Amino acid sequence: MSTTPPRPEAPAPDADPVRLIRHGPRCLRLRWRLEALRALLDGHSFWATGRSQAQLRRMLAGSQVVVSAWRGNALVGFGRATSDGVFRAVLWDVVVAEDEQGRGLGRRIVEELLAGPAVAGVERIYLMTTSGQGFYERLGFSQTQSQQLMLKKTSG
Ligand SMILES: CC(C)(COP(=O)(O)OP(=O)(O)OC[C@H]1O[C@@H](n2cnc3c(N)ncnc32)[C@H](O)[C@@H]1OP(=O)(O)O)[C@@H](O)C(=O)NCCC(=O)NCCS
Repeated sequence: MSTTPPRPEAPAPDADPVRLIRHGPRCLRLRWRLEALRALLDGHSFWATGRSQAQLRRMLAGSQVVVSAWRGNALVGFGRATSDGVFRAVLWDVVVAEDEQGRGLGRRIVEELLAGPAVAGVERIYLMTTSGQGFYERLGFSQTQSQQLMLKKTSG
């Protein structure tokens, strides 16, 4: 009598996949969840901590492309871009919650930012990073020696 070997288990379908939202100009869903945005930035970035809800609201209003990532009701990723729509755009504040990192979510967020109408097609896209060079190189960015980053510190 032959016994059928057990079939390898099919991977369980992801019941609650992470959903990306590219926001409209008013960022309505995020404006209702500024506390969640504040907590994500405070918990998973080192450069964007301590921002107040009022500052975050202004930041969203001043960004031409805003992308958020949600697992169910939980905000698990964020990124934004400013752009003149033709010549120059800059990516800012790309963050993935620690327990979601390493599964392609950061890539999805950056690709969604790059596909935003205010960014797609601009001549040059810049970003500043302290430790994310390897990540951005995977996404087609390269370090440049031809320009220097200049900084003027203000009290703001
Ligand atoms: C950096 C960050 C956004 C990456 O998000 P993530 O979801 O973990 O990245 P992904 O899984 O989408 O990775 C995409 C690719 O980049 C690679 N990668 C990710 N982080 C990397 C790193 N720090 N160095 C080198 N490569 C990296 C991945 O291996 C993957 O490569 P592959 O496409 O060849 O498989 C996330 O780790 C994060 O939020 N970190 C804390 C905040 C931060 O440092 N942001 C960077 C801006 S300064």
